[in-house]
Amino acid sequence: MSKKEKKKSKIAMDLQAAMDKDPAARNKFEIFFTYGGFKALYRHRFAHWFYNHGAKYLAKLISAGTRRKTGIDIHPAAKIAGGVFIDHGVGVVIGETVEIGTNVLIYQGVTLGGTGKDTGKRHPTIEDNVMISAGAKVLGPITVGHNSKIGAGSVVLKDVPPNSTVVGVPGRVVKYNDMRVDDIDQKLPDPILEEFARLNKRIAALEDALKVKSCKYSITMQNDCDDDKGATVIEEEIVELKHEIDENKEKLHADK
Ligand SMILES: CC(C)(COP(=O)(O)OP(=O)(O)OC[C@H]1O[C@@H](n2cnc3c(N)ncnc32)[C@H](O)[C@@H]1OP(=O)(O)O)[C@@H](O)C(=O)NCCC(=O)NCCS
Repeated sequence: MSKKEKKKSKIAMDLQAAMDKDPAARNKFEIFFTYGGFKALYRHRFAHWFYNHGAKYLAKLISAGTRRKTGIDIHPAAKIAGGVFIDHGVGVVIGETVEIGTNVLIYQGVTLGGTGKDTGKRHPTIEDNVMISAGAKVLGPITVGHNSKIGAGSVVLKDVPPNSTVVGVPGRVVKYNDMRVDDIDQKLPDPILEEFARLNKRIAALEDALKVKSCKYSITMQNDCDDDKGATVIEEEIVELKHEIDENKEKLHADK
């Protein structure tokens, strides 16, 4: 396939993606002339070509024009496969070292950017069939695995495994392979959770021991000692004290 054909097919794939992913899309003609997201990608294909062929200034001019016309800012160096759909699009920012696979859906307000801490490859890689919801920020040289979904408004700073749903700030995996992560935890061993459970048990045992000890040395804490063991200790303590008192009374009488 020639490069020209490849470019044509990428644009054709973008058109098809818009048809498939936007329930409001009526026909490709309408998409071609009215969809900002499609226009931004179409222009990016040219900007990217110029960028890779040494005409970086021209590439930047095209991308600046795209931003003015559509509100979508794509660095001309970003590598974007065919079949991507940017829905609505306003406020989308795609950084220089971003790589996007095929069949990806991106909504308005999405940033695929850097954290400011990395150099070189400092932007995310988005694998095939990913959906990035409105306003989500995916930051740093991380990878969003194929078939994953990023929830609206999330801030994702770590790699996302394939087939996952990530939501929240910072983003956390709430679904994996269409199962809630809570459900998965019951089936898969999680060393961190196991360690927490072990520590909780230990803390409970220490608390019990402390309670018994404090009961042993303070008869005034009788009300706090609701466990049988504690109560027994107090009873023994009281009997002992009574015995001591009786002994002291006898001694007093004898002295008199
Ligand atoms: C993430 C999303 C894609 C749903 O993915 P999903 O795999 O079907 O996940 P679910 O709907 O089963 O949600 C899983 C959990 O995440 C929570 N959740 C979903 N989206 C969330 C979000 N954006 N922020 C915080 N929590 C979210 C759900 O409440 C649910 O929690 P629960 O298990 O405690 O009930 C969807 O919620 C979303 O954010 N869509 C936005 C799409 C968009 O941008 N539209 C703009 C059109 S213009």
